[in-house]
Amino acid sequence: MIVLSRPSIGEDEVQAVVDVLRSGILASGSRVEAFEEAFAQKIGVDHAVAVGSGTAALHLGLLAMGIGPGHEVIVPSFTFAATANVIRMVGADPVFVDVDPLDYTISAQAVEGAITEKTKAIMPVHLYGHPAPMGALEELAREAGIDLIEDAAQAHLAKVGDRFVGSIGRFAAFSFYPTKNMTTGEGGMITTWDEDIAERTRMLRNQGMAERYVHRLVGLNERMTEIEAAIGLVQLAKLEHWTERRRQIAAIYRDCLYPSLGLPVERPGVRHVYHQFTLCPPDRGPVIAALERVGIGYGVYYPIGVHQQEPYRHLGYHLPVTEDLCERVVSIPIRPDLTDEEIAIVIDTLNEVAP
Ligand SMILES: Cc1ncc(COP(=O)(O)O)c(C=O)c1O
Repeated sequence: MIVLSRPSIGEDEVQAVVDVLRSGILASGSRVEAFEEAFAQKIGVDHAVAVGSGTAALHLGLLAMGIGPGHEVIVPSFTFAATANVIRMVGADPVFVDVDPLDYTISAQAVEGAITEKTKAIMPVHLYGHPAPMGALEELAREAGIDLIEDAAQAHLAKVGDRFVGSIGRFAAFSFYPTKNMTTGEGGMITTWDEDIAERTRMLRNQGMAERYVHRLVGLNERMTEIEAAIGLVQLAKLEHWTERRRQIAAIYRDCLYPSLGLPVERPGVRHVYHQFTLCPPDRGPVIAALERVGIGYGVYYPIGVHQQEPYRHLGYHLPVTEDLCERVVSIPIRPDLTDEEIAIVIDTLNEVAP
């Protein structure tokens, strides 16, 4: 079986966890601080705030910005439901727009048509590791006087020009779920150049405390543990190498797979980090059947648009590109530890059923 994804855990991650367990300090401590510092430095932002998940990173960031009832946030529907759920959780309304049919990220043109006087922010998703059209979105946000927030859950070390994603919006959210390009088990990170957002999210993750038992805000417990941060520090040091390997596998797929399978696009001037390598054939049925026959893992991200899910269906959105992609996409293995032999098996299997 060639599995779709699995976390890369070496002896150094194991040793880092053992060291934490022996230290007796398991909740937030010096390792969390070190992880935040290393992550902020890598992404090129002033502040990184470690939290319990990517969802928590989005949720606390929205709370810190004061987004709530009466506000609208423009998002793609072709994403994981967390992107929209956090908007609802703070009492605001997600406004769904369609995605670009080539790179599957939010369409700047569709965003422009969706801005109203209630719009507080645009929240693009760097889906599958491909950056959203940040230049155009920055311009739209500036003209409308609204904020830009990045859902960077799938895009560690992706770049727009020479800027890492996560350094562009007012804040960004990363996820360290085990299938992501790097993991901490569960975990997330808020990155921001805005000192106020950093200060407020630090309080919000810790019951709103500014100092011990002095509560300035109503907050939650969304702290990262020392165990998670210790894994994160080791993984972060390997991430550049893993990213290059993902890009190398993508280049091999691009050279060898038949274009009729619907290969993913990499826009000029961006660095795609291939969290997923996603095909979009006219009919994914025969492709999936072949992958199953040979024992190759695959995933469908996402089979149903968020706008079609139960909590949002009543809003009555119709997004033709998203709905078409939901019927056709299929992601194939691109984890950095794939062997050349496994890559060859994937290529042969797919080319045999290419339309
Ligand atoms: C686009 C997107 N946003 C948000 C999240 C939420 O991250 P987490 O699962 O760490 O809460 C994910 C992760 O699955 C995601 O893919």
